[in-house]
Amino acid sequence: MSNQLIIFDTTLRDGEQSPGASMTRDEKVRIAKALEKMHVDVIEAGFPIASEGDFAAVKAVADAIKDSTICGLARALDKDIDRVGEALKGANSARIHTFIATSPIHMKMKLRMEPDAVLEQAVHAVKRARKYTDNVEFSPEDAGRSDFDFLCRILEAVIDAGATTVNIPDTVGYNVPQQFGSLIGNLIERVPNSDKVVFSVHCHNDLGLAVANSLSAVMNGARQVECTINGLGERAGNASLEEIVMAVSTRQDVFDCTVDHLDKTQIVPCSRLVSNITGFTVQPNKAIVGVNAFAHESGIHQDGVLKNRETYEIMRAEDVGWSANRMVLGKHSGRNAFRTRLTELGVTFESEEDLNAAFVRFKDLADKKHEIFDDDLQAIVTETNLEAENERVKLVGLKVCSETGETPNAVITLNVDGEEKQGTSDGGGPVDAAFKAIETVMNSGTELQLYSVSNITSGTDSQGEVTVRLQKNGSIVNGQGADTDIVIASAKAYINALNKVMEPIDRQHPQV
Ligand code: KIV
Ligand code: ZN
Repeated sequence: MSNQLIIFDTTLRDGEQSPGASMTRDEKVRIAKALEKMHVDVIEAGFPIASEGDFAAVKAVADAIKDSTICGLARALDKDIDRVGEALKGANSARIHTFIATSPIHMKMKLRMEPDAVLEQAVHAVKRARKYTDNVEFSPEDAGRSDFDFLCRILEAVIDAGATTVNIPDTVGYNVPQQFGSLIGNLIERVPNSDKVVFSVHCHNDLGLAVANSLSAVMNGARQVECTINGLGERAGNASLEEIVMAVSTRQDVFDCTVDHLDKTQIVPCSRLVSNITGFTVQPNKAIVGVNAFAHESGIHQDGVLKNRETYEIMRAEDVGWSANRMVLGKHSGRNAFRTRLTELGVTFESEEDLNAAFVRFKDLADKKHEIFDDDLQAIVTETNLEAENERVKLVGLKVCSETGETPNAVITLNVDGEEKQGTSDGGGPVDAAFKAIETVMNSGTELQLYSVSNITSGTDSQGEVTVRLQKNGSIVNGQGADTDIVIASAKAYINALNKVMEPIDRQHPQV
């Protein structure tokens, strides 16, 4: 048995099943690149049969990523498997993940199938997937509530059919750690050909036990954990990648496997990227990636840490990617310094044109803000990427009047499909007026579901980072924008979301 724990990230698939967390193709590629940089072993990029957009996103990730294995999800149906096979054609290393439900309630009420027919369909699916790749994963959905003997039978059959990983999902987050760990240990012991595959686990967090259950499974022989950045995922989410990785890495005295191959300094940047793209903010006290995760408030703790950091710290903030947010550049920094610092941060541009566009933004920001921090640079890069997404609607100008005792008013100028248009509106506040002014031009028929603002760095001259979530005909999109003026940042985020609404994502859910 290999000593290395395989990290299977499903932020782009199960994470995306969180209501409101849908991602565009380009956003998925950006997150996949960040995961690749962390050296995540397997990236589940989506469910290609769900829609043309999902297919294109999985294909784009498969084409862009070279070092991680790219996986696509398929129900145990020929059409799903063929679609994944097609989407993964360009991948350096491809995996097909096929699943069918095995719990009595799912088989009877959802599938309306007898157990023998489910087993037959699972075997057929694995054989079909093997035609495309020799890296095939099978999941008995709702394994956590399935009959143990039936699980043994179906796992033995799919391993014989060619599955190379068998994944045991606690789909509804019902299990508790000792029970789930025993389930994994007992399956490995009882399934006669269990030595031919990697045992994996996929735990949901309905009882807040996803990480504990996954780690208990690892202690009982699981060698792959499926997890997501920030614990994003269906309902209460999945096991969080950062917690799994840092638990195994920090407690090498109790785990007999390693995560040494991962670059843990990429954890915080990756968490921020996912939070920024999805609009799902990270709670301050979230382990590893919350802003307070390494903050010592009490005097006694601060005193102890100053004397010896190990008195109250079991991990070092910098080891998971918290940086001191260095002031690196200013108004007089040139293109070379700008490019050099971005390269140090691991950012490269596809073309010289993109670098130039980012440099113009940098100069503009340096005029408004004396100290440019690493996080400001990251925001400039994000903004440059967003600009490319805004294909149909662009912000030309915004004027907002806000005065004590007066109703705020906004005048907006937009470029819509190459034509300049102007709109004006009053509003309850300057942001409300700006959004209403945009709507007088666009008349989009969308409903605002989320509006959130956070500051990128500290200080009143900090850039505000805004996420706007819009809903139209059941399709949900997130838009982002950043600026030192938060009303302008808000307008940018709203416009970015409108551009995405114009390319609606119409998708099927894998588990219904
Ligand atoms: O939770 C679950 O059962 C899943 C499967 C598709 C693995 O996400
Ligand atoms: Zn799941």
